Amino acid sequence: MSFSFSKEAIDDLKSQIDIVDVVGRSVQLKRAGANYKGNCPFHNEKTPSFVVSPQKQIYTCFGCGASGNAISFVMQYYNLAFNEAVEKLAGEYGITLQKNTRNDDREKYYEINREAARFFYKSLTESKNPGYTYMQKRGISDQIIKKFGLGYADGNWDSLYKHFKAKGVSEKLLVELGLLSEKDGRYYDKFRDRVIFPIINTSGKVIGFGGRALSNEVMPKYLNSPENKVFQKKNNLYALNITRQDVGKEGHAIIVEGYMDVISLYQNGVRNVAASLGTALTENQAKLINRYTKNIVLSYDADAAGQKAALRGIDVLRQENCKVKVLHVTDGKDPDEFIKKNGREAFVNLVNNAMPYIDYKLEAYKKGLNLATEEGKLDYMKRITQVLKELGPVEADLYIKKIAKNIGIAEGAIKMEISGDNIETKEIPRPALRPDNDEMPLDISSLEATLLKCIFTEPHLVEQMLGQEEIFRGYLSKKIINIIYELYGLYNDFNVGQVNDRLEPKESEELELALDKVVVCGNADEVLNDCINSWQINSLQRQERKLLNMLSLADEETNDDSVRELTIKLMEIQNKIKVFGGNK
Ligand code: CTP
Ligand code: MN
Repeated sequence: MSFSFSKEAIDDLKSQIDIVDVVGRSVQLKRAGANYKGNCPFHNEKTPSFVVSPQKQIYTCFGCGASGNAISFVMQYYNLAFNEAVEKLAGEYGITLQKNTRNDDREKYYEINREAARFFYKSLTESKNPGYTYMQKRGISDQIIKKFGLGYADGNWDSLYKHFKAKGVSEKLLVELGLLSEKDGRYYDKFRDRVIFPIINTSGKVIGFGGRALSNEVMPKYLNSPENKVFQKKNNLYALNITRQDVGKEGHAIIVEGYMDVISLYQNGVRNVAASLGTALTENQAKLINRYTKNIVLSYDADAAGQKAALRGIDVLRQENCKVKVLHVTDGKDPDEFIKKNGREAFVNLVNNAMPYIDYKLEAYKKGLNLATEEGKLDYMKRITQVLKELGPVEADLYIKKIAKNIGIAEGAIKMEISGDNIETKEIPRPALRPDNDEMPLDISSLEATLLKCIFTEPHLVEQMLGQEEIFRGYLSKKIINIIYELYGLYNDFNVGQVNDRLEPKESEELELALDKVVVCGNADEVLNDCINSWQINSLQRQERKLLNMLSLADEETNDDSVRELTIKLMEIQNKIKVFGGNK
């Protein structure tokens, strides 16, 4: 599923293609001295400011700032990931690329996992044991135990170890797979006195395990296999191996948080489900589900963490062009509790009435704002502009009407806000958001660093960043804020250590450095708000400068209509600058 190309293969490809040809397939180019010129495909223009250099094998647009090489052009033009762009180019030019193939000894790992799953299953089903009593207490049927291959790890510290030792399997492998732990040269079973959920990928391989404690007092509640050669949580959806046919049949998938949600829904007759296993949905999980359906219903827990995870999930799924709805359980804390209390019909009803993601976002972004005040309305507008911009004109119109009525702002003002913002964001389309090899600059600006420092000091402040994500411009700071959202969504808390765990070593070094450089004087809350405020003023002032430039050019060409239009926009922006306390 995941692979990469070797550096040699990429260089080889680059040496065999010509950027003028690659770009020329989508853009009409004319020779201009040593270079070629054309109308930029990344922004609207009538006079060409898009330049391609055959010598340097790069392109640049003087209008919007887009630039890069042949591969990044294909990435940006067709909205592809690096590997996808490379494959497309190689295909078009008939070049065979060497993929980095990992020497595959995975089968061995899968086989050990399968054996462990078998062992746990037997322990659960062949004689009386606390695991089985627990399953019964939670209403799980024998049929379901069999279907999902559920198991029990007893409390003896070495049952599984002995089993594998007798088979001559090395401790090293078992430790690597997270089935054994090692301390002072002694080995013991990692999963003890827990019911076991084997995690099986869509090729039917057992890749890992989740073990739930039999009482809510034992911590952690769930113990999962560590990441290893065959288990990457972010690449899999629990139970999809069983439910993908049902997903296909129903034409949509319900994504839930936990093992028990899947199992309970399944047992109660809602079978088109899979779980993201407590992480906010990842890009790879979205790609995976995309193979079976584009219609997704997110059904996360009713708590704040679940809401955050839903918001993140929406964005990830939208990136993969999914149609997303959000289901809100109205009784109980999660789908498991709901369906047990209310039955299949009631849950299906919730599914049928799930909120389109836009409505969900528009609702969620109200959180923490007082919409009765001017300030609240303004903040709300800021937060939702991006959502509205994603819509087609008809849909946008409908929602604008709805919002105008709902919060008492003139429709015209909302439209103005959206188009005003367009000037700013269209200005710099950022090419190649995804890291192109490891050449991505990792700098964190001092503004970004200050915001991060505030958030790390007072994690709850992250809520104030909701809808303001555009402040984070750099690749690394975007990645960091997304990790923070994910952690906060999950645990309502996070710290630098947890974030560092999810960064590349180089990246966490950069983060530490950036944080060290900032000193937050006084109240983190106030500092953060000051930062956001001055960023807003800055970005408005940038728009103002841009408009002034455009006006001066429009004057030269004496185009009355556009002068009038630009003047209105300018006044609007200057007013906003005043509102935000800019000295204008
Ligand atoms: N999870 C985890 N580790 C934890 C807590 C949760 O890996 N310490 C993951 C598990 O995959 C779990 C999911 O997050 O299934 C959702 O967590 P939660 O809602 O707490 O658990 P439930 O699935 O509802 O489990 P239960 O009903 O057994 O409490
Ligand atoms: Mn639960």
